[in-house]
Amino acid sequence: MTDNHNSADLSREVARRRTFAIISHPDAGKTTLTEKLLLYGNAIHLAGSVRARRNQRSATSDWMEMERERGISITSTVLQFPYEGYIINLLDTPGHQDFSEDTYRTLTAADSAVMVLDAAKGVEPQTRKLFEVCSKRGLPIFTLINKMDRPAMDPLELLDEIETVLGMRAVPMNWPIGDGDSFMGVYDRATEEVHLYDRTARNQTISPEYITTLDDPRIAERLSDYQFEDLHVNIGLLDEMMTFDHDDLLAGRQTAVYFGSALTNFGIQLFLNDFVKLAPAPAMYSSDAGPIRPIDDEFSGFVFKIQANMNPRHRDSVAFVRVCSGKFERNMTVNHPSSGRTIRLPRPYTFFAEERAVVDEAYPGDIIGLPSSHSFGIGDTLSEGRKFSFAPIPRFAPEHFARLVNVDIGKQKNFLKGLHQLETEGAMQIFYEADAMRRDPILAVVGVLQFEVVQARLESEYNVETRLQRLPHSLARWVEGPEEQIELLPWRYGLVRAQDRDGALVGLFNSEHELSYYEGKYPDLSFKQTPD
Ligand code: G4P
Repeated sequence: MTDNHNSADLSREVARRRTFAIISHPDAGKTTLTEKLLLYGNAIHLAGSVRARRNQRSATSDWMEMERERGISITSTVLQFPYEGYIINLLDTPGHQDFSEDTYRTLTAADSAVMVLDAAKGVEPQTRKLFEVCSKRGLPIFTLINKMDRPAMDPLELLDEIETVLGMRAVPMNWPIGDGDSFMGVYDRATEEVHLYDRTARNQTISPEYITTLDDPRIAERLSDYQFEDLHVNIGLLDEMMTFDHDDLLAGRQTAVYFGSALTNFGIQLFLNDFVKLAPAPAMYSSDAGPIRPIDDEFSGFVFKIQANMNPRHRDSVAFVRVCSGKFERNMTVNHPSSGRTIRLPRPYTFFAEERAVVDEAYPGDIIGLPSSHSFGIGDTLSEGRKFSFAPIPRFAPEHFARLVNVDIGKQKNFLKGLHQLETEGAMQIFYEADAMRRDPILAVVGVLQFEVVQARLESEYNVETRLQRLPHSLARWVEGPEEQIELLPWRYGLVRAQDRDGALVGLFNSEHELSYYEGKYPDLSFKQTPD
């Protein structure tokens, strides 16, 4: 095979990859949409199985609830399926009522995001947080306004809310025809065609679709005079006001907005067809050796997630790697700068719908799972040939803190081992109090549910019982500056003086207000959100 041939292959494979994540507030319909995308991608034949599996076991505790969530997250960290000549990699962003850094980190492996909003609720808090992460990374964002089959907010009001709350132009690509019970389909602005749908039994199969025009009598029949007129006025308005610009979408200045209903399948295929055409192919990533382009010959990738003990009986651990450049081949030997070693990769996995299988090759945008004997850490670079490291995955400032007490001191070794593993997975950060009398670790997390996850996993996987003492603090800052000024901070009165695992000084503060007071009082000190 010639080099030219190989690089043409690589370019073609890169160009047809679409790697994205769905972001949403719980209950907006992320799981339902995921399933419907699989249904339309022919990866499953009946919708309902993913949700059913998630609900299979009845929850008896929050931990069980987490496990249920893990039940789906484990098998579906990434779902890969072909669609119309494209290869789609859909990354799961575990979104419970709560956050973890894991969710944020997954977004570093995506090239675009689909934001699902509930049509009756608009932009909700969790969506906003996730949106901010996407926008910091410059990810193009598509918006699906879901649940149009239920009473919804006015579409123009929804667009307005996206613009004011999220600060980017919201350009509707289609327009809903009716809402609630009268929602019958959408008008596609690009083709000026109307897509009407019928519901199917339990919404499990692809909905029959009729392509027609705005003057189809069925529309006038089923809408009230007022709704009918409103529809025409709105569509007229859109053409005057809102123009879609692909470059603006790719630069994050615009979001392309679609209306639909994941439950009843209305508008989902239309969305998917547009998405594969408009979403970007894999992007380049920065590294300490300059930008790494997907079409660079040599394979490279980075670990964005580690999932340990997926099967408690085997104590296995899988590192999920986003392929960033070149072609990955099974049995390849790669550099692993963080251990200073070279590693052979004999059993990489890929993920199709709900199954995992050994993969022989993978391309930029794909995610591979590497079984590891705990040797990988979050953010690790793997590269063939040239040695370099990708820019570190940003850390997210923890907002909740608690001391974790090991109840049975005889199990201290297991306790430390478990904590180390969970920290490697990025489940939480660990601080130690500078005061030598208190050696109980302080867990620092982004979302409070993470506390329970850590405790429950220590108990079930390491047989260690722990007690949690929540702290009232809400901010951690890495404090640097002249020692005598650091000493003046009121460590004994409310602030906690702690160290991270590298021994750097971390102060725990009670509020933004308190922090800004000390920032003003001690201008020579710096209070950083993350370590250097
Ligand atoms: P999530 O992953 O974002 O948390 O949301 P999920 O898909 O689990 O959906 C949350 C609820 O919203 C589910 O109802 C789901 O059926 C419903 N839903 C999702 N999309 C639509 C839609 O387009 N229209 C309507 N009407 N409902 C939708 P549930 O009552 O919690 O569960 P179930 O009884 O349906 O299993």
